[in-house]
Amino acid sequence: MKLLIVGGGGREHALAWKLKQDSPSVELIAAPGNPGIAEYARCLPVALSDVNALASLAEEEAVDLTVVGPEAPLEAGISDMFARRGLNIFGPTAAAARIETSKAFAKDLMVRAGVPTGRAETHTDPVEAKRAVAAMGAPVVVKASGLAAGKGVIVAQSSAEANRAVDSMLSDRMFGAAGREILVEEFLEGEELSLFVITDGKTFLPFIGAQDHKRLLDGDLGPNTGGMGAYAPASLATPALISEISSTIIEPTLAALRECGSEFRGLLYAGLMLTRDGPKVIEFNCRFGDPETQAILPLMTSSLLELLLAVGCDGSLSNVAAPSWSDLSAVTTVIAAEAYPERPRKGDAIHLPKPPAGVQVFHSGTAMENGQLVTNGGRVLTVTAVANSVATAAERSRAYAGEVVFSGKQFRRDIGWREVSRSA
Ligand code: AMP
Ligand code: GLY
Repeated sequence: MKLLIVGGGGREHALAWKLKQDSPSVELIAAPGNPGIAEYARCLPVALSDVNALASLAEEEAVDLTVVGPEAPLEAGISDMFARRGLNIFGPTAAAARIETSKAFAKDLMVRAGVPTGRAETHTDPVEAKRAVAAMGAPVVVKASGLAAGKGVIVAQSSAEANRAVDSMLSDRMFGAAGREILVEEFLEGEELSLFVITDGKTFLPFIGAQDHKRLLDGDLGPNTGGMGAYAPASLATPALISEISSTIIEPTLAALRECGSEFRGLLYAGLMLTRDGPKVIEFNCRFGDPETQAILPLMTSSLLELLLAVGCDGSLSNVAAPSWSDLSAVTTVIAAEAYPERPRKGDAIHLPKPPAGVQVFHSGTAMENGQLVTNGGRVLTVTAVANSVATAAERSRAYAGEVVFSGKQFRRDIGWREVSRSA
């Protein structure tokens, strides 16, 4: 069995690590991969945006299944291309991926399907958008409709701040084409929850819940980032809540995607706000989350490979058992580069001590330069500790993150704090 993993971050490192655990005999290749993934896979320098070259690679290598990590190749139609060339792939078509790649499409679909989500208006004209800001009142959220690497969302505390966001997106084109269309959205209050479901388009199986930490600094302060850490399981995600989310959110969303001819096959990630009125969708992603994947997969005791093959090769999950989970806790701390998220510096030498038992290091943005591991991205490493309590896992993840050495290192020392205080 041979698999191609598309991507080169911590999420893809965790996928490779888990697939190799599921089946040590599986042969992995990765494009482009990274020095951490290289421990399990042959890494080949093919650009994520070149879906033609990725399909040719899968063909030449006679790959049984390709697993796509990031959203960009999905938006670029990698699944459509693979299907045309008769190649198996895990990941939705570009049309189905619009659930993430166009927030305007996603909002419209949710409204039509009666899926609970914040009220919102879509605008392309700054005057109209500011009228919507005034009508909604602060706090209010302004979002670029397209992909903006996690930076296209402004949670504005005042109308003036929201109006500045409108201008920077619609007039100054801060996010280019991704911000040609924006959403002005109701501010939702509550705790956030990330829930992944794997689906063949009709049947789906939920994973355990996780919580991300989007802000750069301890105490959930500072700017939004791609995610500074995560933990799983989130005790908020009780079986009853997961079943409510399944029936009020996941089922109608998958049905609406089928009805519009864009059946979604792959991993659907619901970013939820648990409000006083029940769970509401903040956003959907069309792929595994990063860094939630690095916290969730170390707790999966059943085979991920079996799930990916069922969706990507057989096209059906109906004969596959739900995944099973360890009853331990996982806490993942992201170690970011100097000046992340604004202008992360690259090329700083990294000293990586040997991790103790129960601690797993996933490479997010690293490169090998003349035999030296160096920083090569905003998020550099993700450190997952698994232990019998969230407090112990948090302590071990933090302690190891403290031992990693590179210039300008940033990491949060409070990942999992909500769960730690709930469990105290
Ligand atoms: P997104 O990229 O859509 O996940 O948004 C990034 C972050 O902005 C989310 O994780 C939330 O913390 C916050 N956010 C987005 N939309 C809203 C909303 N309607 N109300 C409150 N916070 C939001
Ligand atoms: N953890 C946020 C994301 O993957 O988009």
